[in-house]
Amino acid sequence: MKKVFKILGIVVAVIAVVIIGGLVYFNASYPKVDPPKDIKIEATAERLSRGEYLANHVAVCIDCHSEREWTKFAGPIKPGTKGSGGEVFDENMGFPGMVVTKNLTPANLSSWTDGEILRAVTCGVTKDNKALFPMMPYMNYSNFMEEDAYSVVAYIRSLQPQEKEIPETDLNFPLNLLVKTMPLKSYTPAKEIDKSNPAEYGKYLVTIASCSECHTQSNKGEPLPGMYLAGGQTFNFPAGVVSSANITPDAVTGIGNWTKEDFLNRFRFYNSEEAQNVPVNLEKDFNTPMPWLMYSGMTDEDLGAIYEYLRTIKPVNNSVNRFVPHQAN
Ligand code: HEC
Ligand code: HEC
Repeated sequence: MKKVFKILGIVVAVIAVVIIGGLVYFNASYPKVDPPKDIKIEATAERLSRGEYLANHVAVCIDCHSEREWTKFAGPIKPGTKGSGGEVFDENMGFPGMVVTKNLTPANLSSWTDGEILRAVTCGVTKDNKALFPMMPYMNYSNFMEEDAYSVVAYIRSLQPQEKEIPETDLNFPLNLLVKTMPLKSYTPAKEIDKSNPAEYGKYLVTIASCSECHTQSNKGEPLPGMYLAGGQTFNFPAGVVSSANITPDAVTGIGNWTKEDFLNRFRFYNSEEAQNVPVNLEKDFNTPMPWLMYSGMTDEDLGAIYEYLRTIKPVNNSVNRFVPHQAN
């Protein structure tokens, strides 16, 4: 009998060693990402202005990395918090743990090299090689053309420094382990895109603007096949559940009947002082995560290119109910 226990004890100990060894190996070998590039990104006037445009109106870094006023329509940026991060997403909103956006101002990033910032944005790891939760859409940013990526880095370096205590992101098991396997090994810049081909340029913009993160339904982060940009992804707001719209060219349930003018006007509408200040009752009224206020600053040329690209994707018949208020209301 004693012998059996002894053998069992050895077996258990061996299993424990294998598991612990496995975890140690896993932690030491993931994320598998190349060292940051040894580069110095010169902050030319062109880069600062292109970076400002991309970070505020296309790739909308500033949308996530600022505090937002959700008591106003589409959540304008709280004055004085631009780029300082600290927005919290938690289990109440359907997140697997607590995710907090980081401070992009020099108060946090001044000790990072340009190569480290570029790597965080395009591969998804911090200076210390810690994997970023992919809500930070680095997978999309890995498609940046080189000059655009450099421009964004130059611009965020120019933000007004703001000191701020920000809690660490804390993901639930097993996502806290899985997330380590996600970062990309390296960044290969996208080849230059010919702007005279609007649909192709539009595809690029849709990618770096992460439209599909919200407009394609996903299950545990995996986009549902055949539903590209067909809407129906849900967002839990205090007043109810908001769903993204179908923006495929389906005539009945999508935007197939919209002219380019209609499309531009829908965005233009939000490009005024007034539209940036529409009060909303957070507990009762419809509000939207769609970054209307930021995208409304896109040029006609770029919005037009997005429209042209959206005409080329597969129409999907998917009727979406944009707002379902919570029962209590
Ligand atoms: C959809 C929201 C979202 C957008 C858009 C976004 N980020 Fe992030 N970003 C995050 C979140 C959330 C984190 C923190 C992830 C974590 O803690 O695992 C993060 C982390 C980072 C970090 C790491 C900072 C640190 O201290 O660890 C950098 C750098 C960064 N983002 C830069 C950018 C830039 C530049 C852009 C635009 C090109 C951008 N982000 C757009 C959500 C976003
Ligand atoms: C953070 C999530 C999010 C992102 C990113 C996002 N959208 Fe939306 N979008 C929504 C939601 C939710 C709605 C529905 C609520 C509303 O109308 O505001 C919506 C509505 C729309 C509508 C209105 C359609 C209609 O039938 O009225 C258009 C057009 C649109 N989005 C286009 C885009 C494009 C183009 C992009 C990328 C450049 C994009 N969206 C990125 C969440 C998002």
